[in-house]
Amino acid sequence: MAIDTAFWSGRRVLMTGNTGFKGSWMTLWLQDLGAEVSGLAPGPPTEPSLYELARLASDIPQAAVDIRDHEAVTDAVRRFRPEVVIHMAAQPLVRESFITPRETYEVNVMGTVNLLDAVRLAGDHVQAVLIVTSDKCYENREWEWGYREDEPMGGYDPYSNSKGASELVTSAYRSSFFGDPAGPRVASVRAGNVIGGGDWADDRLIPDIMRATLAGEAVAIRRPDAIRPWQHVLNPLSGYLEVVQRLCTDPSFATAFNFGPDEGDARPVQWLVDQIEARWPDPISWQIDPGPHPHEATYLKLDSSRAKARLGWAPAWGLATGLDAIIDWYTAFRDGTAPRDITLDQIRAFARDYDNPDGSPA
Ligand SMILES: NC(=O)c1ccc[n+]([C@@H]2O[C@H](COP(=O)([O-])OP(=O)(O)OC[C@H]3O[C@@H](n4cnc5c(N)ncnc54)[C@H](O)[C@@H]3O)[C@@H](O)[C@H]2O)c1
Repeated sequence: MAIDTAFWSGRRVLMTGNTGFKGSWMTLWLQDLGAEVSGLAPGPPTEPSLYELARLASDIPQAAVDIRDHEAVTDAVRRFRPEVVIHMAAQPLVRESFITPRETYEVNVMGTVNLLDAVRLAGDHVQAVLIVTSDKCYENREWEWGYREDEPMGGYDPYSNSKGASELVTSAYRSSFFGDPAGPRVASVRAGNVIGGGDWADDRLIPDIMRATLAGEAVAIRRPDAIRPWQHVLNPLSGYLEVVQRLCTDPSFATAFNFGPDEGDARPVQWLVDQIEARWPDPISWQIDPGPHPHEATYLKLDSSRAKARLGWAPAWGLATGLDAIIDWYTAFRDGTAPRDITLDQIRAFARDYDNPDGSPA
């Protein structure tokens, strides 16, 4: 496994949802590899945002358009002439999807249709399209085994279901319009419970804890027993880069890939809270929020055997290392270090570990 700087250097990449948490980490990594990144999103989804804090707004050409606007999305693909398209734009929150189900479907499902259709109509120069969905795309059977890529799509709540539907859209577009090996190749990637510095989204565990703690308030913890496959954001992003690299040279990579942590890193919410408390320099105040809460699965694990076998991918940072990095990020932020510098330092440290998993001298 290796991230190929020569592949990315000078490559035109259009990223939808680039103003978000994952999009900002991905943009910085791609820029560091020498890629020419352009973005498509109306603006940052949170205040503050890593996008603003890392000064990405002044850095890249941006189409400030809504993914629901097919014409504007097509224009952006025509204007930026990307060789690689990474689709991250979404309404990404389960609880929000109970409040705005229609919008969630419109953004997540029709947004995927619009993006793929824009590539169909205006994407002669596109070699690879990566559709980012979620581990929640699967029909969740509340079992203790990891889901494999070929298992049925599903989703109890509108968010999860919209991601399953986005996968079905991707599959239909791939077989109907992108079968020509000389044309754009389309893969989808499924990861979940991604954690890292610079996330400020509502209703996510680490942002909830950090927001409250930095403000000197108590944090409310929901579902302490729920088990989730926690992983540092750079783990799946390294997998996304690998998929694109392979997709450009081999059409057999036009399929779906799971990116999950190792078995031991699927942990209950309460365990994660305890780990953060043990690492944060000051006391953290929290209490259990008894609810009621909207439905969420108790068990959710991914089987990443395909990514390991076909890409040689493995999570370079286990959960303990990832948590150390997160605490370093927020303490540096609290102490006034520039977020762009903290984030780039962590990307470079991760890349070294990824390229040299045994830790042997380079
Ligand atoms: N963070 C996680 O734990 C996680 C887990 C599984 C899947 N994902 C998926 O990864 C992707 C990125 O997630 P994130 O955590 O960075 O979320 P985020 O909320 O930080 O970013 C979402 C991005 O989508 C953009 N967006 C929202 N509505 C839009 C619209 N109508 N038109 C155009 N752009 C729009 C936002 O502006 C932002 O740039 C999403 O597809 C999400 O479903 C995230």
